[in-house]
Amino acid sequence: MGAPVHLLLVDDDEVDRERVRRLLGLPYTLQESATGQQALQLARTHRPDCVLLDYRLPDIGGLELLPQFTLSYIPVIILTGEESPEVIVQAMRLGAQDYLVKGQLSQMGLVHAINSAMEKASMRRDIEQKNQQLRELASALTLAEQRERRRISQVLHDHVQQILYGIQMRAHLIALDSSGQDELCEQAHALEALTHDAIRITRTLTVELSPPMLHNEGLVAALRWLANHMADNYGLTVNIRAETDYESGSEDLQVLLFQLVRELLFNVVKHAGVKQAQVLLYEEDKRVLIEVVDHGCGFDPVRLMHGGPDQAGFGLYSIRERLALFGGSLTIDTAPNAGVRARITTPIQSACASTPGGDA
Ligand SMILES: Nc1ncnc2c1ncn2[C@@H]1O[C@H](COP(=O)(O)OP(=O)(O)OP(=O)(O)O)[C@@H](O)[C@H]1O
Ligand SMILES: [Mg+2]
Repeated sequence: MGAPVHLLLVDDDEVDRERVRRLLGLPYTLQESATGQQALQLARTHRPDCVLLDYRLPDIGGLELLPQFTLSYIPVIILTGEESPEVIVQAMRLGAQDYLVKGQLSQMGLVHAINSAMEKASMRRDIEQKNQQLRELASALTLAEQRERRRISQVLHDHVQQILYGIQMRAHLIALDSSGQDELCEQAHALEALTHDAIRITRTLTVELSPPMLHNEGLVAALRWLANHMADNYGLTVNIRAETDYESGSEDLQVLLFQLVRELLFNVVKHAGVKQAQVLLYEEDKRVLIEVVDHGCGFDPVRLMHGGPDQAGFGLYSIRERLALFGGSLTIDTAPNAGVRARITTPIQSACASTPGGDA
């Protein structure tokens, strides 16, 4: 056997505690508490491997106490005096691993329940840690992609476009110098026109890859550019109302917010069936809020809550995940035929926080 298993028994009935005590021998060490307050104190000082919790306590209700353990990944087995399905269901919903009816306790049942509760709690902790790592990895990848896009955009702007301008100018000079040589003049004009097209395409690509105004002039300027872009390319009129410029936001966060607004505006184009949307940017209670509002067909939000990223689309799911890493959140107010109000919230101080996921 390995290290002793440290149990905390929380029950105000001395007789019931004695019954459990007798059933448990080695490898269990048992601490006992008759009140919820004392149990919390003991759990803080000697982190138990498992808690056996009577749901009726004199000071704090067992169900109220339960999350205080489960949030720290301490497995809890509820001890019930009589079988009460509602209490049991509620306890399991709050994260209890198992329940045992006091009048029917046996050594085998108790040991089995403790072992399985500890195993389940440890698996839950592993899964949540892995999920957190995956979120951080996804965020690091997004930021790495963003930086790469910016780098390519800069190369296009600072090098490729300058070369193209040079070619265009020389073609123009050749055309001027070639009076009397019709064919050469014609070729020079054709070259000038082709270069003009190449410059136009690379300029669009530069801005689409990473809008320079986002880095030079900030989020609001970039959102205004986005509004024009949506109108020109998708026929969506976007009205921007900004009560804050959000200059304090870190560049990574500003880039993320820009991408999220773009994603939400694409949703309006794809799903809402209207040609207008509004973007509001304001501050409230030390938080920055951005709302993207449309008065289109809306949707049933319950459908999204029950669907994973594969059942619904990936867009809203990915917005939630990426925001969570910056301490932000997304709420969606919608109903069929009632439009959509998508609200992004981020704490102002997170704007100055370091990049999640490190310097990818
Ligand atoms: N503005 C909107 N108006 C109406 N329905 C919407 C709106 N935004 C989202 N929806 C509904 O919510 C669903 C989920 O949106 P989400 O952005 O997650 O996925 P998607 O747009 O379908 O696909 P993806 O974003 O992965 O390309 C959509 O399929 C659509 O039914
Ligand atoms: Mg989408």
